[in-house]
Amino acid sequence: MEQWLDLRSDTVTQPCAAMRSAMNVAPVGDDVYGDDPTVNRLQEYAADLFGFEDALFAPSGTQSNLLALLAHCGRGDEYLVGQEAHTYRYEGGGAAVLGSIQPQPIINQPDGSIALADIESYIKPDDFHFARTKLLALENTINGRLLPMAYVQQATALAHGKGLSTHLDGARVCNAAVKLGVSPRDIAQGFDSVSVCLSKGLGAPVGSVLLGSRPFIKEARRWRKMLGGGMRQAGILAAGGLYALEHNIQRLAEDHDNATYFATELAKMKNIKVSTPQTNIFYVDVPSFVCKGLNDVLELTRIRVSMSPRLRIVTHMDTRREDIERAITVFGDFFG
Ligand SMILES: Cc1ncc(COP(=O)(O)O)c(C=O)c1O
Repeated sequence: MEQWLDLRSDTVTQPCAAMRSAMNVAPVGDDVYGDDPTVNRLQEYAADLFGFEDALFAPSGTQSNLLALLAHCGRGDEYLVGQEAHTYRYEGGGAAVLGSIQPQPIINQPDGSIALADIESYIKPDDFHFARTKLLALENTINGRLLPMAYVQQATALAHGKGLSTHLDGARVCNAAVKLGVSPRDIAQGFDSVSVCLSKGLGAPVGSVLLGSRPFIKEARRWRKMLGGGMRQAGILAAGGLYALEHNIQRLAEDHDNATYFATELAKMKNIKVSTPQTNIFYVDVPSFVCKGLNDVLELTRIRVSMSPRLRIVTHMDTRREDIERAITVFGDFFG
């Protein structure tokens, strides 16, 4: 029986043998007391890698983003965020529910950016009628798209010039750095805080790191405890994250190449419209009347993709070139 080929997300990766053994032998302690040597090593390593003073290990990207929003904004403050951003759309409204922080969603441009003029126009005047605009939150990559470096520089400078802080949801920021051929430090430039997911393309089973200044991380640590994210012998998990940062960043290029190859082959088929992948995520539009049939064929051939509202295909370390070849054959037989 064919193995399942799971292209729904890069969150489905399995920890490799070497990562598992690093987790197995990791020295641990009680991290709520700050005693876990492996968590401390991960936090120091991540802070240095991305050029920040301090870092905090969090159980998920959702919590890491929420810690940032709570640390930057207070009750009655607002943050500017893209309509398509994960923090706004897919994190249960946590900032509003748990922080009384009002999101000000702004339409994303086709390249994933938020127009500078829109950022400027949505910053509220200092007037008691309005929520206080405190933060600009961007996402890179955003649905697989890269924010141009010059844009990030301009947007963060604009925000800072208006007295706002800046946060990056960098769940896949390493994909962006590798694709643009810049260092993690360079890609994080301009942001006061960055959340990096270890459990997406980097292949760790659990966890994110939040990066920022020492006082910012101190505040985030307080929120993490309150949210129940203070873990005890968390070094077992942090060891996987550390392994991921040490070994799995540069290999993301392979995922990008596989996505480009897959999309190029799909684009040759009839009745199919494929977005050009910039990193490891791309979208495929197919006529709605074929969806049911395609779904059945994919199920039968043990291939998983996200089907709704558009087909989303994500390559990752557990999708090798021969798996992509197999998927191309299946799609080719279906679409001709
Ligand atoms: C861009 C982005 N940010 C944040 C998250 C949240 O990460 P987690 O699933 O670890 O909570 C995701 C998850 O898919 C994501 O894609």
